[in-house]
Amino acid sequence: MKILANDGLSKEGIDALQHAGFKVITEGVSQDQLIAFINQNDIEVLLVRSATKVRQDVFDQCPGLKFVGRGGVGMDNIDVAYGRSKGVLVMNTPGASSISVAELVIGHCFSLARFLHQSNRYMPTQGVSEFKSLKKKYEAGIELRGKTLGIVGMGRIGQATAAYALGCGMKVVYVDRSKSEVAIPIQIAHLDPISVTLQASSLDDVLASSDFLTLHIPAQANGQAVIGQAELGKMKKGSFLINTARGGSVDEEALKVALRNGHLGGAALDVFVNEPTPDAELMTIDALALTPHIGAATAEAQDRVGLEMASIIIEHLSIKA
Ligand code: 3PG
Repeated sequence: MKILANDGLSKEGIDALQHAGFKVITEGVSQDQLIAFINQNDIEVLLVRSATKVRQDVFDQCPGLKFVGRGGVGMDNIDVAYGRSKGVLVMNTPGASSISVAELVIGHCFSLARFLHQSNRYMPTQGVSEFKSLKKKYEAGIELRGKTLGIVGMGRIGQATAAYALGCGMKVVYVDRSKSEVAIPIQIAHLDPISVTLQASSLDDVLASSDFLTLHIPAQANGQAVIGQAELGKMKKGSFLINTARGGSVDEEALKVALRNGHLGGAALDVFVNEPTPDAELMTIDALALTPHIGAATAEAQDRVGLEMASIIIEHLSIKA
């Protein structure tokens, strides 16, 4: 059975699949050639990350396809229900990248708190001639300890982020559509984990009380932003917003306004509307810390993704391999 891992797969994942008798092709086929490639090469398993789109046309025009795997969490690039209705197994690896995303969120919090993103932008060009004025510009940093992190969406990634924030001495508030209470295990070195129980709040309370707000929700089916002008207006003056979830979850135009008029102290974006061609103006805003959708892009997360995907495929398809 042939597998096309179109957005790549870790060596561990490839090895496990090959060991189980699958042939793994890691060529990155362009979107417009995808259907022809799958059919010409008798591909039965298609693996993607977020770059390759698997829409209805792929399911309709590739009758040999048996399995579509999303190495990662968000399935918004795949017409999941349609594929399943055509008898194709469609699965993801929901737990593999939580720690990596959480660490990126906390990294962005530290960056925003101490102007690291701006300092890194200007030190190379002005560090020699303008050292004193840059020092003055970035002197109003804050500590994370004692600040409140608001989490919208308390799934696996939200909980991993809460654990890091609590470990940094932050308070954590959250809103979630189904979890009214969560127990967050905090691991300190080799000691037994300490469990901290948190109770859910309303979105308005989270917006009003957070010094930092982070989103951990899937793309909304209606495409609507969860944080738009009204929600930004309810956030504390000078607070910070971090979005590592999906581009459309924050209204980018409303965010620009909230940054320009100083209502927000800053924001960090890892995800954008219209990836991989984000809004050019966003790239120029000083108060924005920017990363190119790298939440799950660590060696450890991708190893786990590869191994989890391999074991799912072996479990569901190995009889036919
Ligand atoms: C996810 O949904 O898993 C993340 O957004 C990571 O996407 P990526 O695998 O394309 O980096």
